[in-house]
Amino acid sequence: MTASETTATAAREEPDRPVVELDNVEIVYDRHFLAVQGISMAVDEGDIVALLGPNGAGKSTVLKMISGIGRTERGEVTRGSVVYDGEDVTNGGANEMVDRGVTHILEGRRVFEDLTVEENLRCGLYRGGRRVRFDEEDYRIAFEYFPQLEEILDLKAGYASGGQQQMLVVARALIHRPRLLLLDEPSLGLAPKLVRDIFETLVEINREENITMMIADQNAKRTLETADYGYVMENGQVELHDPADVLVDREEIKEFYLGTSGDSSRYTDIRHYKIRKRWT
Ligand SMILES: Nc1ncnc2c1ncn2[C@@H]1O[C@H](COP(=O)(O)OP(=O)(O)O)[C@@H](O)[C@H]1O
Ligand SMILES: [Mg+2]
Repeated sequence: MTASETTATAAREEPDRPVVELDNVEIVYDRHFLAVQGISMAVDEGDIVALLGPNGAGKSTVLKMISGIGRTERGEVTRGSVVYDGEDVTNGGANEMVDRGVTHILEGRRVFEDLTVEENLRCGLYRGGRRVRFDEEDYRIAFEYFPQLEEILDLKAGYASGGQQQMLVVARALIHRPRLLLLDEPSLGLAPKLVRDIFETLVEINREENITMMIADQNAKRTLETADYGYVMENGQVELHDPADVLVDREEIKEFYLGTSGDSSRYTDIRHYKIRKRWT
């Protein structure tokens, strides 16, 4: 065995270090509404982790409690722990988590509609808790992955298409140079080709910028193709979890896929029913 082979083997055998670990976490809104009960998850450095499951399963709640945004909605981790980078951050605030390198892209492509694309990119530019100047490197990272944005810098973001708005929110998140990027329903309402483009770009960003990602999405097929590992949630609990390539072959997931083809809103109830039937 040559020296380089030895090094490669050693690197491969080094245990992955989780960026985030949830241990038996319970999440309650408004002091009494139990949204998530006893879930455990581990997200390894450099991985893309999929959070799947029907509407109301608790996917967004998990992301919000990791980024600290859930606290602004009167959400609280009432049991268990959230550990980030080896430190307990249970019920940590949103500012603290941003400073630690967590960026959360909320559902619904929240752009400032009356501001231009460029203003959207520039505004709220914080790094390490301080507002910083927008520099060439920021442009590089935004436009390397989303060259289209460069062509619409002066367009009011409200007039941008859904796909362009999704690019904009991801580009804006990248400017924060996150270590962990949380994405909530990035594919919602986008045409299939755009969804494919967005997910392919996310994989490129993950590989090239070494940004760990958690993606909650109703598009189970596309998300699992993109992810390294997946968790399927139902009723505030984790029902299944496995490497994405294993999950893809599981019978429950195939049914899940069936439910996601075509008009997803119409099939949601059927899908929900099937999963419940199998799992209870
Ligand atoms: N801000 C909130 N206040 C109270 N209940 C909430 C809030 N957000 C979500 N919930 C409830 O928590 C449960 C999980 O919701 P959510 O995390 O949004 O699920 P998902 O993202 O999987 O659709 C649902 O029953 C939902 O109604
Ligand atoms: Mg959600």
